[in-house]
Amino acid sequence: MLELPVVAIVGAGPSGLATAVSLQQLSIPSIIFEKENCCASLWKNRSYDRLKLHLAKEFCSLPYFRFPTSTPKYIPKQTFIKYMDAYVAKFKLKPLYCRFVQSATFNTSLKKWAVEVKNTTTNKIDVYNAQFLIIASGENSEGFIPDLHGLDSFPGEIIHSSHYKSGDHFHGKRALVVGCGNSGMEIAYDLNNNGVDSSIVVKNPVHILNEELVYVGMKLLKFFPFGLVDRLVMFLARIKYGDLSKYGLRRPEKGPFILKARTGRSPVIDVGTIDKIKKGEIKVFPGLAKIQGNHVTFENGEEKDFDTMVFATGYRSTANEWLKDFYYVLNEEGMPKAKFPNHWKGENGLYCAGFSSRGLVGISMDADAIADDIFNNYMVENVKEL
Ligand SMILES: Cc1cc2nc3c(=O)[nH]c(=O)nc-3n(C[C@H](O)[C@H](O)[C@H](O)COP(=O)(O)OP(=O)(O)OC[C@H]3O[C@@H](n4cnc5c(N)ncnc54)[C@H](O)[C@@H]3O)c2cc1C
Ligand SMILES: *[C@@H]1O[C@H](CO)[C@@H](O)[C@H](O)[C@H]1NC(C)=O
Ligand SMILES: *[C@@H]1O[C@H](CO)[C@@H](O)[C@H](O)[C@H]1NC(C)=O
Ligand SMILES: *[C@@H]1O[C@H](CO)[C@@H](O)[C@H](O)[C@H]1NC(C)=O
Repeated sequence: MLELPVVAIVGAGPSGLATAVSLQQLSIPSIIFEKENCCASLWKNRSYDRLKLHLAKEFCSLPYFRFPTSTPKYIPKQTFIKYMDAYVAKFKLKPLYCRFVQSATFNTSLKKWAVEVKNTTTNKIDVYNAQFLIIASGENSEGFIPDLHGLDSFPGEIIHSSHYKSGDHFHGKRALVVGCGNSGMEIAYDLNNNGVDSSIVVKNPVHILNEELVYVGMKLLKFFPFGLVDRLVMFLARIKYGDLSKYGLRRPEKGPFILKARTGRSPVIDVGTIDKIKKGEIKVFPGLAKIQGNHVTFENGEEKDFDTMVFATGYRSTANEWLKDFYYVLNEEGMPKAKFPNHWKGENGLYCAGFSSRGLVGISMDADAIADDIFNNYMVENVKEL
């Protein structure tokens, strides 16, 4: 058993790093375990090339480190990666890389978390005892592909959006993108730009906005209620895009911001896909009905052959797989049981960072809330011992 600097953090993504920095400001040492060989692995290894942050930079910085004024308003992926590397360097964080946390259990007699960590290069297992444990393994831990009837008969390439880099790999092919969130819409656009016959499945209603509309909305939300901002933004979106239902894109009944706050579902921020849909360059299909080899039938009876399928069907958390006592904070899906804004706090010194479906804004809030709470608990314990 290895004693530990008070706090163990699982994951060196934005959430784990931000929480370590917020703790450091309060002079509380922590240790970060990361299964990959680098920090911010979602951004470095599991995202497409043309990705930019969807929100303006003022909403995306991590605690105690602003973006330089020279950074563009909408930050490209590579710039954000440099920022994350600079964050680690500035605060002298030393995550332990290639360390997979394979289990964590609360030892009730020690009142500490026993964290089992496997060195993925040597397969050696160490057990660390920590007073506090922070789950920062991400809401987007693992790509999710639905179990569709007939999918196993599809002879072409099937990939999840997290493995998609760019369209040149698919040049000249017929591709079907399944899922119409931000990733799906942007990948359909990127494929079409790269000479791919690109189609997208849009099953559910979706809000289509652009960067400016989201920016205006987020600014107004500081002063006005959701209902009012939603109505205004939807009105402006209607002027910008017209009625999109004739293209197979229906709008949800609830507004984009209230929907985001209540369900975590983001509006689609259009990067040019809508124009291509209107011109017929990208074809929209409703839900999938049947897959037979290359041949796909849709819910409206239309049919088409495809060579490849890209599933932009979201992600899932895997924290409940390694965290043995997950019910102290998580449900069966590996997501917090408590609703926002109480989602970050569990029992027995267990916390989750980055599980509020609020992106980088939510991550900064979690980091500060968790550090403050640990500070209060830790101080109380230490004063008792003196
Ligand atoms: C394509 C895409 C685009 C996005 N764009 C935006 C955006 O524009 N703006 C925004 O605010 N948010 C965006 N997000 C949301 C994004 O997920 C968060 O902003 C952020 O990356 C989440 O950080 P995190 O640290 O919580 O999780 P992650 O970045 O997923 O980091 C978790 C880390 O934990 C590690 N890990 C997991 N399990 C273990 C284990 N058992 N042991 C050790 N290590 C483990 C992983 O390897 C990973 O490095 C986007 C997400 C995706 C997928
Ligand atoms: C992830 O990407 C980084 C930066 O490009 C690279 O250094 C690292 O080796 C990659 N890791 C894996 C597992 O591919
Ligand atoms: C708790 O820790 C003690 C001391 O390391 C150990 O002897 C005991 O077996 C542990 N209990 C459990 C349930 O693992
Ligand atoms: C664990 O793996 C690293 C490589 O990331 C290696 O350098 C190190 O020696 C290993 N440490 C132990 C204690 O096994």
